[in-house]
Amino acid sequence: MSMIWRNLVGSAALLALAACNQSTPTPAPEPVLDAQPELDIPAWPHGAMVAAADPRAVQAGLDVLAEGGHAVDAAIAVHAVLGLVEPQSSGLGGGAFMLVYLRESGETLVYDGRETAPAAATSELFIKDGEVMGFLPAWQSGRAVGVPGAVALYKAAHDVHGSSEWARLFAPAIELANEGFEVSPRLGGYLANERLRSVMRLDEPGSAAAAYFYPGDSPVAIGTKLQNPAYAEALSEVAALGPPAFYTGPRAQRIVAAVTEDAEPGAMTLDDLRDYTVELRPPLCGDYRNYTICSAPPPSSGGVTQPAIMGLYERIKGVPAGLNQLRDLGHWVNAQRLAYADRDHYVADPDFVPVPAADLINPDYLDARFQDVGDPARAEPPGDPGAVLARGPMIDLWGRDTTEEGGGTTHISIVDLEGNAVSMTATVESPFGNSVLVDGFLLNNELTDFARDPMKNGLPVANAPAGGKRPRSSMSPSFVFASDGELVMVTGSPGGNSIIAYVSKTLIGVLDWQMSAQEAIDLPNVIARGETVGVETSAPDGEIWAEHLRSEGYQVTERAGENSGLNVIVVREDGLEGGSDRRREGVALALAPPEPERELPAPESDN
Ligand code: GLY
Repeated sequence: MSMIWRNLVGSAALLALAACNQSTPTPAPEPVLDAQPELDIPAWPHGAMVAAADPRAVQAGLDVLAEGGHAVDAAIAVHAVLGLVEPQSSGLGGGAFMLVYLRESGETLVYDGRETAPAAATSELFIKDGEVMGFLPAWQSGRAVGVPGAVALYKAAHDVHGSSEWARLFAPAIELANEGFEVSPRLGGYLANERLRSVMRLDEPGSAAAAYFYPGDSPVAIGTKLQNPAYAEALSEVAALGPPAFYTGPRAQRIVAAVTEDAEPGAMTLDDLRDYTVELRPPLCGDYRNYTICSAPPPSSGGVTQPAIMGLYERIKGVPAGLNQLRDLGHWVNAQRLAYADRDHYVADPDFVPVPAADLINPDYLDARFQDVGDPARAEPPGDPGAVLARGPMIDLWGRDTTEEGGGTTHISIVDLEGNAVSMTATVESPFGNSVLVDGFLLNNELTDFARDPMKNGLPVANAPAGGKRPRSSMSPSFVFASDGELVMVTGSPGGNSIIAYVSKTLIGVLDWQMSAQEAIDLPNVIARGETVGVETSAPDGEIWAEHLRSEGYQVTERAGENSGLNVIVVREDGLEGGSDRRREGVALALAPPEPERELPAPESDN
C-alpha cells in the first residue's frame, strides 16, 4: 500500500491549490511530487482507453490521447463535452473528485474539486421558520448551490500533469456546442418525464433553463440538434483566460445573482467564488488479498468505504474453495452494511470535523469490526474505531446521520498511452442540479449532500453544514493496484449514496468472481444500507439473488431501473478491457499502442 502514496504522506500534502485569486491566468502551483530517482520503467504496451457516459465525450478524450495527451488532458476534454451533452449529470456549475495515477513514480494524487458552502453559511442552512426544509424545496433553491469546483480542478490538475495545450482541450466541446449536438434518449427522456417536471423548476416560465430545454413549453425531443452558444462562449473564455473567466468578472456576477436572487436565496458572494480552492489530498488505500484499493478520502466516501468493504468481505468470507456467487452474496451484503453504517456516522469534511478515516480501514479495526455482523433484519449500528484502537471511544461524538442524497453525477475512467490513469467522478447533485441555467451550464445543488438537520438526539451531526465546508460525497473514483504497484483497474459510478455499492460490485466481480469488466457491471445492483437490502430484480439473476437473500433473513426491497453508470477499465496481460454501464449511454473505447519505430533497412549499394 505504501508504494502508492509514499511521497504524499511524507509531504502531508494537503496543499490548497488556489483556483483563482487574480485577474490573470492562475500560475502553475508548486508541483508537490517529490524528486524521483530515474526508474527503468518498461514502455506501457497496453494502449489507451476512455470509458465515459457518452460516445461523443469519449471520442474527444481519445483524440487528445492519440496526440500524446496525458490522461488528465483527456479527462478535461471528456468532461467539457459531457457538460454539454449530459447536462443532467455534471458540468461547469458543479464539482468533482479526480484521482490521478502517475505510472512513472507510482503515485496516486487526489484533486478535490468539491463544491463548497459559502462563507456565510451556517449549520442552519436548511432550517426555515424553525423547521428543517423538505428535500425537494431545498433541492430547488439558491440555498443548495455550492461554489462550483470543476473549472478550478481542471486548471489545478492540468498545471501539474497536462501535456496538451490548455485551450485545445475545450475545442471539441466548443465546436459541438456551436454546431449543435443530437439530444440523446436519456437526456430527452428526462426532459419529457412528467414526474420530474412536477418536482423541478427546469421549465419555469421565463427562465433561461426553460428557453433552452422547453422551447415553446415543450421538452426538446430526442434526436433534436441542440445548440448552446452560451456554453461555447463560457468555454471559449475559460480556454483563453483560465479560471478567472469563471470565478471573477461578469460570469461570476451572473452566478452570484442567480443564487442570491433565487426565490429561496443562497448566500454566495463574489469573494466565495474568487477564493475557491482545489484541495490536493492523499488517497486512502487498503488491501484486499494481493491487491491495493485506493479511492478519494473525505469529504468523499470512496477511500473509507471501498477498502473497508473489500477488507471486511475478505475477513467475513475467509478462504472457501471455488467460485460461488450465491454463497458470497450475504458476505458482501454484510460487508456493505457495516461499511455504510460507519461512513454514515463518521465521514464529513475533515477540514471541519475529526474524521477517523484511516482508522476505519485500519486492519486491526477491520479484524474487530467484521465480527459485528448482526441480525440481517435490522440495521447495523456504526462501530467505534476509537474504542477498538484504544484511542478513546468516539461513537457519541456525533448524532446519527440525517443526510439524504441525490443522483445527478457521472464517471470517467481513462488510461493514457504512457499507462497513467484518471478516475474522475463529477456531479451537479440532483439531475439538472438546482435547475438554474447560467451561461449555458446548470448550477449544482450539492449542499443538499449536507445533513439538512444539523442535530440528532441533542448531538451535532458530523455532516452538518458550515461556512466554507464541503458536503460529504458518496463518489468513489477508485484504482486497484497489484502487489508490484502496477495498475489493475480503474472504476467509478454515479448514483447518489448507492455509488458505494455500485463501485463495490465491480471490485467484487472483477477481483473475486473473476469476471470481465462488462460482466461485473451487468450484475444486479445490490445496495445494503440500513435495514433493507435493495436488489435490482430487473437485471438477470436479480430475482434469484433477492430470493436467496430473503432466505438468509434480509429484508429485501426489489428495485428496477437502477441508476448506476459504471465506467470501468481493467488492465489485462493482452491489453485494456473496458466496460460501460448499459443502464446509461456510455462506451469504453480503446486506442491501440503506437507502432514501434522500425529501423529502415540500409539502402542497397550500387557497387
Ligand atoms: N452528489 C453525489 C455525491 O457527491 O455523492
